[in-house]
Amino acid sequence: MSASKRISIAVDGPAGAGKSSISKVVAKKLGYLYIDTGAMYRAVTLAVLRAGANPADTDAVSHLLSNLTLRMEPTEEAFRVYVDDNDVTDAIRTQEVNANVSVVAAQKAVRQYLVAQQREMALAGGVILDGRDIGSVVLPNADLKIYLTASVETRAKRRWLEMKDNESVSLDDVKKSVADRDEMDKNREESPLVCVPDAVVIESDNLTFDETVDAMLKLATDVANKAEA
Ligand code: CDP
Repeated sequence: MSASKRISIAVDGPAGAGKSSISKVVAKKLGYLYIDTGAMYRAVTLAVLRAGANPADTDAVSHLLSNLTLRMEPTEEAFRVYVDDNDVTDAIRTQEVNANVSVVAAQKAVRQYLVAQQREMALAGGVILDGRDIGSVVLPNADLKIYLTASVETRAKRRWLEMKDNESVSLDDVKKSVADRDEMDKNREESPLVCVPDAVVIESDNLTFDETVDAMLKLATDVANKAEA
């Protein structure tokens, strides 16, 4: 029997659907590289905020991009991101970044800059990329496309439970922030979040974490075995 192919997997879906935590585990089990494209948009957003620029000012943001050094280090344990050699992997997870990332990610210059790097990282195959436009724009020829979703209530609740400081944030506030981000990501002009027709939809409301991992693993293994190396 020939070896199965090391395929490329695109995982898209709205905020808090579990894309990154699930994709990370699936990638580890398959021995694939996991690429968190959202972390890249977050890193650019953090750089914009730290520079004191207005995240909505497209000229200022595109000027900043020309002087930015962004480096990604995908390992089995984490997807580490560096801005100008500073490790920002944890710093990109704040509410301030959450509140501004969709404004930055809607900009054409930002998307061109990051999509080129994402495609390059995916070239070798044996990769899982998660984001909003992976199946539609970044890897339109991905071997497997998955759209992972759940109701806004489920997604907000998961996010809230995950937050270390959730005594100071209400579930309603998290729900609003998740819904606002979905709204912006789905309605923007540049690469909006869409469920492409050739994606397999996984609704995770009634699935546990492990069940979702298993569903994705099965899809990946089936596609990889059919494709063969
Ligand atoms: O993990 P979560 O669902 O909160 O979001 P994320 O994957 O970290 O992405 C943060 C934001 O970056 C999203 O809300 C989008 O605005 C943007 N993004 C994007 O536009 N395209 C991608 N491929 C990935 C993220």
